Amino acid sequence: MIILKSDREIAGMKKAGEILAACHREIAKLIKPGISSWEIDQFVENFLLEHGATPEQKGYQGYQYATCASINDEICHGFPRQEPLKDGDIVTVDMVVNYNGYLADSAWSYGVGEISEENKQLLLVTKEALYRGIEQAQVGNRIGDIGYAIQSYAESEGFSVVRNFIGHGIGAVIHEKPDIPHFGIKGKGGRIKEGMVFTIEPMINVGSWDSKMDNNGWTARTIDGKNSAQYEHTIAITKDGPIILTEQEEQ
Ligand code: MF3
Ligand code: CO
Repeated sequence: MIILKSDREIAGMKKAGEILAACHREIAKLIKPGISSWEIDQFVENFLLEHGATPEQKGYQGYQYATCASINDEICHGFPRQEPLKDGDIVTVDMVVNYNGYLADSAWSYGVGEISEENKQLLLVTKEALYRGIEQAQVGNRIGDIGYAIQSYAESEGFSVVRNFIGHGIGAVIHEKPDIPHFGIKGKGGRIKEGMVFTIEPMINVGSWDSKMDNNGWTARTIDGKNSAQYEHTIAITKDGPIILTEQEEQ
């Protein structure tokens, strides 16, 4: 069942999204060689508490951290850890913020120090893929239009789209209907309706799209050891187009 949200609920989720976006802007300043994803996780938890919010991922299905921190070939759900980030790494920090019972979810990939041309291109294309997907999130379009826009663009740039993890509706809980694949066929899938709130969160790989699961039961990584990046926003569908609830950059 797809739960459509009222303007009031969307306004509540936007407040959560603003705190989340402010947190990402701070993370961007912190990321450099030598800091660990564990320290970033601690920073996030404190930042949220100081802003009257809580990290919704902590305790979710037994997950133990405020953030997911996925480094290099890790696709998603990497565990924060004390090993320092190294010059040339890329890291995706993903979190869900709860503010007054309203949720917002956003992941962002960061380069650590000086990164390779290939990594720069991967980050650029993944972010652009997210925004191309958002552009298709219009009342009357189909969910397949979003995936088609992301997949056709990412593949035209020589990268691949992860199939095993997808975007999702979000409301009082992290994962609701509808499913939002980042691959698809134009004109296929359910219709996009006013009041839907969902994430678009393409994970884009340098090599094969396929993944394997670590022994921890959470962390997915690429099967070929090549890098993966991800950008994610929570968006609300209005009759005037999609509103990004987690925007952190000047548009
Ligand atoms: N933020 C994730 C997403 O984009 C959800 C993470 S699940 C958790 O869907 F258990 F890691 F919290
Ligand atoms: Co997320």
